[in-house]
Formats: sequence, structure tokens, C-alpha cells
Amino acid sequence: MNQYLISGGQPLQGRISVGGSKNASLPLLAACLLGEGEGECILHNIPQLSDVKNMVQILESLGAKTYSDGHTITIDAKSLTGISISEDSMRQMRASNLFLGPLLARLGEARIPLPGGCRIGSRPMDQHLKGLEALGVDIQESHGYIEAKAACMRGADIYFDVPSVGATENLMMAAVAAEGTTILRNAAREPEIVDLQNMLNTMGAQIVGAGTSTIRVMGGKRLGGTSYTVVSDRIEAGTHMLAAVMTQGDLEIDNVVPEHMSPVIAKTKQCGADVSVKGSSVRVRHTGQIKPLEVKTMSYPGFPTDMQPQFMALMTLAEGTSVMTETIFENRFQHVDELRRMGAKIVIEGRSAIISGVKKLEGAFVEASDLRAGAALFLAALAAEEASVLRNIEYIFRGYENLEEKYVAVGAKVQRMI
Ligand code: EPZ
Repeated sequence: MNQYLISGGQPLQGRISVGGSKNASLPLLAACLLGEGEGECILHNIPQLSDVKNMVQILESLGAKTYSDGHTITIDAKSLTGISISEDSMRQMRASNLFLGPLLARLGEARIPLPGGCRIGSRPMDQHLKGLEALGVDIQESHGYIEAKAACMRGADIYFDVPSVGATENLMMAAVAAEGTTILRNAAREPEIVDLQNMLNTMGAQIVGAGTSTIRVMGGKRLGGTSYTVVSDRIEAGTHMLAAVMTQGDLEIDNVVPEHMSPVIAKTKQCGADVSVKGSSVRVRHTGQIKPLEVKTMSYPGFPTDMQPQFMALMTLAEGTSVMTETIFENRFQHVDELRRMGAKIVIEGRSAIISGVKKLEGAFVEASDLRAGAALFLAALAAEEASVLRNIEYIFRGYENLEEKYVAVGAKVQRMI
């Protein structure tokens, strides 16, 4: 397993640029399967991540032709040859389930493994399946696989019990091919869903309401190609903001969409940092103290669960006691034990973590258990004044392009060790 040797205590100073959003890129890549008409799908600002590579491999396994050039990927999905997603793909990446909707829309059939739970929770697909059945899809589960068939799908009025990001995305993509109008109620409102609506509409779809709880899809459409630029990654941007605070540094973060980051900007200010927004740049400066916080993760536009581990790392250094409550996933505190190894004082009570701030973190051997836990430990190691070794950094490559290069360029001492 790859690992980082991190010598902490260096204030990060300078400019960092944010890449395209992982959580927008993955559904947009799946949506390219819908491009059966004229032209190819050309996606720009796609981050070079292992999850993106996996999605492209799945597209190719289904018969699509792809061409990657830096941050631009061209996909020609006119002739598809398969309907199945492999067990390996699903085990490696839950977002493989985002091919369910597009395959049903294109071929009327899909076979995908039931997603195993993962480190941060059971993550069922009941909302995906309930919505697809409402469109007239026949869903059978056997031998750990979901077999979905639909001779023809008809629009429906669907209510999500949970504002699931993936279920909203899968149903948007399936509904494009359903006869009539589909209404998605209690839909997820993330900016990545707005990106998906915008791209599908450039391909010939007719969707309105993304970003609100009610999305309307006028179906029966045959989509063509597009040229589309992926939105900036709000979670990468938030991670860099905390890097500035935790290393007592001063970072100018470029290519940010501030309106996608209100809770993160508000909480970063609340902990005492100096945060100034100018256009698509956010400057974050440590001001000598870190105040304790009370944070509760919620669906967008609430505080994002994908920033929970990183803020917990920040709170380990606050002057006082903080509380972090995780309401989205039932098991997203895997990073707590590793932060404790660095001297953090954290007690878990149900879905809340009570964090008593310490003056400084100690260097230690720590292990990433998932993507955002890895990011949190990376930040903690940069803040500690001694050396740390962070293992299982493959998790970080899933969601952050060139994190070590970006941070070394602004003063961090990080070495990759095989
Ligand atoms: C997306 O995952 C993101 N991934 C996650 O980011 C993010 O944490 C999550 O949304 C929540 O914001 C991508 O966009 C690729 P959900 P997704 O369906 O779609 C429950 C990262 O670090 N649920 O919104 O899988 C589920 O168990 C990753 O970048 C059901 O009960 O999340 C969870 O508790 C991690 N039934 C909650 O909803 C369902 O059918 C939110 O899940 C579906 C979900």
C-alpha cells in the first residue's frame, strides 16, 4: 500500500487551484450512455481520479468508445454491447450503481450487483428501486444481483423517503426515456444534481427543478452528444480551506463556487479564521485561535457530510469542547481512532462525537479507512509538529487529484513512500 511521510508544522502559504467535482463527474460520465444520437459527449474539467478511471472502464465494458486527454474525456456511446456491471466494479465503487438508470433508458435492461455496505454505512438502494418500479421497471434480486427490465417506462409521481443523491440521479436519467412526465419529490438538492440536469438538457433532455426538492422530467426523449464543463469540487475546496487554518497558514483558493459552500464558509469563519470571498477565489487566513464548534451534517444545503471528518480534525485543535453530529451515515467515524493515535481527545456518544481540543497533535502511524477520513488524517498530520506516516493513501487518490503536489507547492513537507 502507498503511504505518505508527512513532516508537519509548516504553515501553508500561497495559491491552490480546485479541480472539477468528483461527485459531479461520476454521474455525468454515466449519463453519457444516453448519448445515442448525433455527436459525442465531450466532458471538460474532469479530475484525474481513480474513481473517474473506474467509471470510464465500465463505460468501455458496456461498449462505449472513450478518449481521454488531460482533463477532457470524449465518449461515444452510440453502440452499446452490454447491460451488466461487474461485482468488482461495485465493490470498488458504489457509484457504479449510477449506470442503472441510463442502461434502462437506453436498453430497457440492466444487471448490477447489490452494493455491499461500505466503511461509512450500509448504504442500501431501496429508494433507487422504489422509484424505478414506479416507472414500470420489473426488479428482481437474485444471487446478489439486481436484474432490472422495462419493456417501456411510463412517467410517474415519485416521492423519496430519503433525499438520496444517487437515487435522484438514477431516476433523472431513467425518466428521460419514460413516456410522459416524471415528478421527483423530496429529491436531493446538491449542486452536482444541477450539473447533471444542465448537461442532460444540453443533450436534448427537458428537465427542470434540479437544486430544489421537486424535479420534473419531460420524458420520451432520444439524447445526442454534448460538450460540457464539470462544476468545481466544493469538497476539495473546503478541504483546502481547513488546511490553511490547521497549519496556521494563509491560502488563496481559486476556481471555487462560493454559493455552493455557504455552510463550510460560515463554520470556517465561526472557528475564528479570516475568510474573504472575491469572485471565484476564497482567501483563508489563520488568526491565532481556533474556536470550538457545534456542527450537524445535513442534506444539501445543510452542512455536508463529506466535510465532517475534515472539520473533526480541525476541532481536535480548538480551544474548548466541540460537538460533531453525523446524521447522514450511520458509521462515518472511522477516522476517530486514528485521530486519537495523534493525541486527539474524542468521545463518541451515539451519532455525536464530543471533541475536547488539545494544544497540538502528535506525529503517529495512521491509516486511512475511506476517502474523507484519509483527507482528515492528511490535514491532521500537516498540523502536527512532528513526522507522521499515513497509510492506505489510495483512498485519497479516489477523490483528490495531486493533493501532495498541490500542498508541497505551498510549503508542505510530504513524501510518497511505496
Ligand atoms: C453521494 O453518495 C456522494 N457520492 C457521497 O460522497 C455523499 O457522502 C452522499 O451522496 C451524501 O451527500 C457521490 O456523489 C458519488 P445518498 P450516495 O444516496 O448517492 C441513505 C464522497 O466522500 N439511502 O445520498 O451514495 C444512505 O444509506 C462520497 O465523495 C437510503 O436509505 O449517497 C445514506 O444514509 C461519500 N436508501 C443516505 O441515504 C437509498 O436508496 C445518503 O445516501 C439510498 C440512500
